[in-house]
Formats: sequence, C-alpha cells, structure tokens
Amino acid sequence: MRFSVAMPEDLLMRFDALVAKRGLAKNRSEVVRDLVREALIEEDCALPGEEVMGTLTIVFDHHSGDVRDKLDTIQHEYYEQIVTCLHVHLDAHTCMEVVILRGESALVQSISNIILGTKGVTHGHLTMTTTGHGPYQAPASKQAAMTWAHEHPHTPASSAVYPVR
Ligand code: NI
Repeated sequence: MRFSVAMPEDLLMRFDALVAKRGLAKNRSEVVRDLVREALIEEDCALPGEEVMGTLTIVFDHHSGDVRDKLDTIQHEYYEQIVTCLHVHLDAHTCMEVVILRGESALVQSISNIILGTKGVTHGHLTMTTTGHGPYQAPASKQAAMTWAHEHPHTPASSAVYPVR
C-alpha cells in the first residue's frame, strides 16, 4: 500500500540523514517500515501480560557499600526471570553487567527498576523485545511443580521431585 506523509522540512532533512546513514540498501520507505516495526514491538511489550525478553545494562562501582551483595540477592530472588548475567570489569573499580530477563512485561520492568534503584548502581538502561509468544505462561515444568506442590501439601519442598520454592 502507498500513502503520503506530511512533515516539517527540518524533520524530513534529519530523517533523510538517518536514511543515508543506514546505507545504500535502504530508502525512505524501507526506513519508515523499520521504524514502524520497532514501534509496534515496543507496543506489544507494553501489553499487560505479554512475554518479553529484557536486556538490562547496569554500571556500578563494586567498592561502593554492599552493592555486589545486594545485586546478588536480587538476582537470586528472581532466578526464574533472570536467564543469565554477563559481568565485565571496566577498570579497577567499575563493573558493567548485562542481565538478560525473561517473563511477563510488568515483572521484567519491576525487577529492572529494583536493580536500577540499588544504591551504588550509577546508571543503566532496560531494552525490551517481545518473544512473539503473546501472554506469558509459566513453563510446563513450573506448572507441573505447582500442581505437585498443591497435591502434596505436607511434603517438604526439599524432597520434591521438582524444584518447588
Ligand atoms: Ni567487575
């Protein structure tokens, strides 16, 4: 489908500069399509219950108070949502961590806010992308664990076949 768009000249000039940066393979239409797709993915991430992948990048000084311990505690608390974590030593004091999260969008956002709000974390940023799976559903193993726990209420979790919390 074709449609025409009106925009202020200065905005169009900046847009053309962006199109030029994206290389010869891209023209205005292709870049508009890319931007629309990006916006729609963000829109999906904002849907309540949507399953998303989050990439949280944080920077902190590991000598600052007990920030290292606090971050570990938070990551253990949400081990079901935190898929992995990459730690990079930037210099003698500064660390960067890239935390990959998976789960329901509101939960991924609140875990990220807890981490970003930890004293000693100097800055960071969360990026979310949808998995395309729609509303979040607990994995089959987790559902089995919940059913098992429900059917065996007096059995200590430690003796469960499944990792029940
Ligand atoms: Ni480090």
